[in-house]
Amino acid sequence: MTDETPEHPLFARVYDPVTGLFEGRMEPHRRYLSRDLSGSVLDVGAGTGANFSYLKISGAEEVHAVEPDPHMRRQAEEEAEDLGFDVTLHGDVAEEMSFDDGSFDYVICGLVLCTVEDVDGSIGEMARVLKEGGELRFLEHVGSSGVTRRVQEAVNPVWRKLAGGCNLDRDTLERFGDCQKLGEIEVERFDGLPPVDPLVRGRFRKS
Ligand SMILES: C[S@@+](CC[C@H](N)C(=O)[O-])C[C@H]1O[C@@H](n2cnc3c(N)ncnc32)[C@H](O)[C@@H]1O
Repeated sequence: MTDETPEHPLFARVYDPVTGLFEGRMEPHRRYLSRDLSGSVLDVGAGTGANFSYLKISGAEEVHAVEPDPHMRRQAEEEAEDLGFDVTLHGDVAEEMSFDDGSFDYVICGLVLCTVEDVDGSIGEMARVLKEGGELRFLEHVGSSGVTRRVQEAVNPVWRKLAGGCNLDRDTLERFGDCQKLGEIEVERFDGLPPVDPLVRGRFRKS
């Protein structure tokens, strides 16, 4: 574990009970992240393993997941065991992963770039571990505009503390566009639940 390893035991304990209240809204997005996969897949910032039940039936042949918070990772291990899902869990951070270049056909990332220390570094690293022609799929909540944006900026310092380092006001979408290795396939925008609003999801291909 490094000094930068995120560790939020209380957040890990309440994560499933709290997000469970909204999981119905998340389900179509989780299906989007995991539909029609094949070959090798990496789930970045797997949390408690919320994507695992979808990944199990996705068509993926080999699944790895990175989750640096040991409390989250323990729950992800339990979830995999409960599901009988074959996934290899790693303690890496998105910014520095212990995989060779071009290791994966797909990288999926759900609600993680709001929390990482270095968004550009994480996107660059996800692109690095993708095979050429491989696909990065993401779901994030991003900074809004107008009054909602001002509310997000005002409450963000407290929100970060309560929500395991999550930021409400990041303009994450633009950062994908900055990564030279990734070409956009599609990006969609959805209403979230303020102050976690809007949601964006999309797919990029490594060229
Ligand atoms: C909001 S949770 C999302 C978990 C899961 N992907 C989901 O959809 O429910 C964010 C996760 O990102 C993890 N995380 C934080 N910093 C990270 C980093 N630098 N690299 C990878 N994961 C990170 C946190 O430990 C947490 O489990």
